[in-house]
Amino acid sequence: MERTFAMIKPDGVRRGLTADILARIQRKGYRLVGLKQMVISRETAENHYAEHKERPFFGELVEFITGGPVVAMALEGENAILGWRGMMGATNPANAAPGSIRADFATTTGENVTHGSDSAESAERELGLFFKAEELLK
Ligand code: TYD
Ligand code: MG
Repeated sequence: MERTFAMIKPDGVRRGLTADILARIQRKGYRLVGLKQMVISRETAENHYAEHKERPFFGELVEFITGGPVVAMALEGENAILGWRGMMGATNPANAAPGSIRADFATTTGENVTHGSDSAESAERELGLFFKAEELLK
């Protein structure tokens, strides 16, 4: 069993895609062990995306991710980290596999609807950044 951090980004929430994305997660069979809607602080956003600090898109990325409510989730299941990345599809929706969330719902890399941790280390770090231990089911 593996846990990963997943998020519906502000574009997805604003466009009313929350229920559809939650339905995909539940149909897949991941257990939702944490779930909350929130607005991300600038500090948390900069920390969450720290690996991209020197990239030219960093400023816009932080503005975007703090620009409206997101849905933060902790998913549990076998191979949940790679599995959720697969359900999301490639970062650039133009390269995302047909039927994936980014292929079905997004057209630009900058607003690509969902986030998912890319490794066990990222998952642990990001879950700790967004959830207190008591907010997660045992
Ligand atoms: P990254 O971690 O590379 O992608 P992923 O979300 O698939 O893990 O990048 C983080 C986010 O930064 C990405 O979802 C959208 C944004 N981004 C851009 O706006 N432009 C870019 O060229 C890249 C690579 C990412
Ligand atoms: Mg990433």
